[in-house]
Formats: sequence, structure tokens, C-alpha cells
Amino acid sequence: MRVVAIDGPAASGKSSTAKAVARVLGFHHLDSGALYRTLTRVALDAGLDPDNLDVPVLLAKADLRGLGLRPEEEDFVPLLDGAPAEHLIRTPEVTAAVSAVSAVPEVRDWANARMRALAEAGVPIVVDGRDIGSVVFPEAGLKIFLYAKSVVRAMRRLAQQGGKEPTNEEIFAEAERLKARDKADASRPVAPLISPEDAVELDTSRMTFEEQVDGIVRLARTVYQLPSP
Ligand code: DC
Repeated sequence: MRVVAIDGPAASGKSSTAKAVARVLGFHHLDSGALYRTLTRVALDAGLDPDNLDVPVLLAKADLRGLGLRPEEEDFVPLLDGAPAEHLIRTPEVTAAVSAVSAVPEVRDWANARMRALAEAGVPIVVDGRDIGSVVFPEAGLKIFLYAKSVVRAMRRLAQQGGKEPTNEEIFAEAERLKARDKADASRPVAPLISPEDAVELDTSRMTFEEQVDGIVRLARTVYQLPSP
């Protein structure tokens, strides 16, 4: 089983980093947050209360709508009703509800089983999330904990959204929102956000994207004895 686990707080650049690392290594990228977001979309569409979730109903609805992951280039695309669901799962409504949905143990068991099945099928993967190295793949050969100062993460997130140059107030407000999500993810009783003891910690506050990708690629090549080009 070849797994690179990348954990870290919100907007630490995990997904884009994991995707780029996967592309360079010829692995697949699995965004575990996308699984939780897609389930959250199903819950909201079904009118379920994220804070008081009827899990059997939710999982049955997910099945009915064919919630799945389709390999596409280096990524897995989340599917609902036979079509890509990316645009349905990155909405403010889903972002606001996903922490509650992902805090439910039965939901996590469901997501973890899906992720493990992919790795057990022999697909080499780079997986990003909050508990990948600690809970989902504790045996991963390489674990990275990616973080950056909240203001840096806020600036990166706002830049990603495009539009005009953000004001200082907008940056600080976004940093506060990110800290609130980090707190919720780190203080929940089930699978909280932590840096696993055997993880390589990477503070990317002063690194370029290329530097952080390159650093992880080198480590993965060493651990999995992959040839350098
Ligand atoms: O990375 P993201 O923002 O798309 O993640 C969405 C939410 O899912 C986030 O609030 C935390 C949760 N999550 C989780 O609990 N465990 C994971 N492995 C990945 C995401």
C-alpha cells in the first residue's frame, strides 16, 4: 500500500499541494474533505439537520444518488446523480454545515472505509484531510502535517477567490473564520485535527508552492524508493 498522508488546518494548501504531489509522482489524489462535503450536500438536499443527523437515512440517500469517486487524471472526482459534484460541494452553505456532519462517528466510519478500499485495491494515493495520518492510514509510509500562520492562510484563500485586493479588515475577518474552523476540527472528540507524532511538520508560511511540493516529492521518492526523473 503506497500512501502519502497530508493533514493540516483549513486553507493550509493541503489539497492543491496533494494534487501537485500526486501528479509529479504518478499517484492519485484523494481529497477526503470532498467526501465529507458531498455527504453534507446530500444531507442538506434531503432536508436533514446536520446537528442532529439521521445517519442511516443519510447513507441510504447517498447510495440512491450514487455518491462515488471517479478517477480522472490524477484526481478522484466526487459524483452525485451520475455527474461531477464539485460545483455543488464548494458552496458557503456546505462549508457551514460540513464540520457538524464530519463530526459524526458513523459518517467517519463510512468515509474511512471508502478511502481504505481504494488503497487496498493497490492505487498509490496522496490523501489530504485532518486525520489521514492519525486514523485513516496510521501505517502510511509518509505523513506530512502542513500548516501556515492564519493570516497567511487567509491571504492565500482570498487570493484564490479572485476579485479585488482584500482590505486588512477582510483578511483579519477571514483569519478569524479559519481559526474558528480549526478550533472546531481540533477540539471535537472524534478524530480531531492533530499532527501525528511521526509526521514531518512543514510550516509553509514562508515557502513558495513549488518549494513545498518539491520537498514532499523528494521525501516520497526516498520513502517509496521511486526513481527520480
Ligand atoms: O478540507 P475541507 O475544507 O474541504 O474539509 C471540509 C470539512 O471536512 C472540514 O471542516 C473538516 C472535515 N474533514 C474531516 O473532518 N476529516 C478529514 N479527513 C477531512 C475533512
